[in-house]
Amino acid sequence: MAILVTGGAGYIGSHTCVELLNEGHEIIVVDNFSNSKLESLKRVSEITGKLFKIYNVDLLNQKGLEEVFSENKIEAVIHFAGLKAVGESVSIPLWYYHNNLTGTFILCELMKKYGVKNLVFSSSATVYGSTNQVPISEDAPIGAVNPYGRTKQMIEEILRDLYISDQTWSIALLRYFNPIGAHESGLIGEDPNGIPNNLMPYISQVAVGKLQSLNVFGSDYSTKDGTGVRDYIHVVDLAKGHLKALGKVQFSKGVDAYNLGTGKGYSVLEMVKAFEIASGKKVSYTITNRRPGDAAICFADASKAKIELGWVAAKGIHEMCEDTWRWQKNNPNGYEEEQDNLIEHNFPVLTSAADFLVSN
Ligand code: NAD
Ligand code: UD1
Repeated sequence: MAILVTGGAGYIGSHTCVELLNEGHEIIVVDNFSNSKLESLKRVSEITGKLFKIYNVDLLNQKGLEEVFSENKIEAVIHFAGLKAVGESVSIPLWYYHNNLTGTFILCELMKKYGVKNLVFSSSATVYGSTNQVPISEDAPIGAVNPYGRTKQMIEEILRDLYISDQTWSIALLRYFNPIGAHESGLIGEDPNGIPNNLMPYISQVAVGKLQSLNVFGSDYSTKDGTGVRDYIHVVDLAKGHLKALGKVQFSKGVDAYNLGTGKGYSVLEMVKAFEIASGKKVSYTITNRRPGDAAICFADASKAKIELGWVAAKGIHEMCEDTWRWQKNNPNGYEEEQDNLIEHNFPVLTSAADFLVSN
């Protein structure tokens, strides 16, 4: 029996694949590589010494996805696949709703058809909107403020309705705070397209010399130093949270939301300082206007995940910065070269359900 990982080639998915394989799970990855490269999965194999099946299938392709279900015995699904750029979601909302919602409908229909009713879903702290009531617990009011966030909020509601209609489902809605960091090997990490929107990849690209200077979005918030405060969580801790959630959904029924965060908040300037210490590099910055839609302060009450999943984040800010730096320094252009290989070798991009790396 295998765990199906949708979006497994992406940033959080690839780190979760490592943890799943290390724990002895059999995994199957489905990804359309719209925001990732096959190379990340090759490196997952390199880190773990294990092979697994990869399907280059779009979740919107029902026929292709059904082949995955019919060819494999799947016991649970971890569903990462989705588009995630806030600004882009404002420009092309229909595409975001279609990709994220329709992809989830098709996935859930097939799960139902094949009797797979254990699901771990990638939600986001973005569902809380711009509340300033911290720490944020799972029962805080929901109210996403952009199309991306609303896709997460809607999917959460749809999955709750699904459970109400059939109580043999078991679903964990994981609300991530701000994932940063990379695997300690330096082999996998975050590989954003173009100029990063998020703080950590921006800082690390300044440190490595790809970008000149960080724009600090506002220094007049009522926070410790006037800059925005967030709950940064190491991606490996986050990945481990998925294994705990998987354990929960496999052994009990229901639908539950869990915050995955550290419960600690760091300001933008604290992050700059921590990164300078970890990397030994100067990170130049300029204070600019606030970014519309940004909350002043956001950090989790992560006690529910501790009590019900037995999960707590273990890695601190220094490790998050050190690991990000190792990844950035070793891979200044991310997973760059592998796109050529895909074309050159006619890799699964052009086939529907190709077994590229076959288990055992
Ligand atoms: P990512 O973009 O690196 O990974 C998502 C993966 O899904 C990519 O590999 C992409 O190619 C794939 N994908 C997208 N649409 C698909 C489709 N229709 N069919 C098949 N594959 C598809 O993103 P990530 O940072 O790893 O995030 C994973 C999940 O967690 C996403 O759902 C995201 O919204 C959510 N999330 C991320 C963050 C964050 O800061 N990274 C925070 C909160 C929630
Ligand atoms: C952003 C998204 C959120 C998404 C999350 C994914 C917005 C409004 N929110 O959250 O929906 O779930 O990413 O991780 O885009 N900052 C700078 N300069 C930069 C970049 C960021 O000063 O170049 C500041 C921001 O103002 C904020 C902090 O750094 O105070 C963190 O920003 P970011 O990494 O983009 O995360 P969020 O804003 O929390």
